[in-house]
Amino acid sequence: MSDATEPQFWDTRYESKQTPWDFGSVPTALQAYLKKHPKGGRVLIPGCGVGHEIQAFAAAGYEVTAIDFSSVAVEAARAKVDAALTEKIIAGDFFQHPFAPASFDLIYERTFLCAIDPAQRTAYRDRVAALLRPGGAYIGYFYYQKTDPKDGPPHGLAWGESDLLFARHFLLLRDIPSPDGLAIFAGRERWQESRRTTHVG
Ligand SMILES: C[S@@+](CC[C@H](N)C(=O)[O-])C[C@H]1O[C@@H](n2cnc3c(N)ncnc32)[C@H](O)[C@@H]1O
Repeated sequence: MSDATEPQFWDTRYESKQTPWDFGSVPTALQAYLKKHPKGGRVLIPGCGVGHEIQAFAAAGYEVTAIDFSSVAVEAARAKVDAALTEKIIAGDFFQHPFAPASFDLIYERTFLCAIDPAQRTAYRDRVAALLRPGGAYIGYFYYQKTDPKDGPPHGLAWGESDLLFARHFLLLRDIPSPDGLAIFAGRERWQESRRTTHVG
């Protein structure tokens, strides 16, 4: 496992402002989604970073929970939201925090999957599948670039790999080039909307 599986790796980057993944505001594809799907229920943002999206989900009528294991990121995220939302931003490990099964209607992904070690992808997929209620929405930005695991993060997905990873638990409903490509992801990022299937086991 790489250093990126430790919070200190990310703390150092936030402290030194080496955050090329940071969009700086609410990404436009998400803004469009929220306009189309207001009041969507309970949302989880894993690996939320400084959490530009948290207030936007709340403003659209969602009940937001966000989690990140970097205390520096969590502090920055809490400083940007209304007081009532600060306690919804959890300092903790996405893989370990005791969330109840099927406790979210929507999980929003942005640059978390590509930040974890590729060896953790199956655990990530199983965790997302376990936390989303059947029929729930799994949406966000996905980075496609086959890279040597030693080079990342970011760690890109390969097309076939992505299908194998997600097809068992998710039905892909929408897949478009990201309108929001930062230099680090340019031309290799997709906006996707999937539904958690009712398949169990
Ligand atoms: C590349 S950053 C993305 C942050 C944010 N999603 C964004 O789009 O700006 C990856 C984030 O995942 C967090 N992270 C990595 N592994 C984690 C884990 N196991 N549990 C919680 N957060 C984790 C890091 O601390 C970091 O803030």
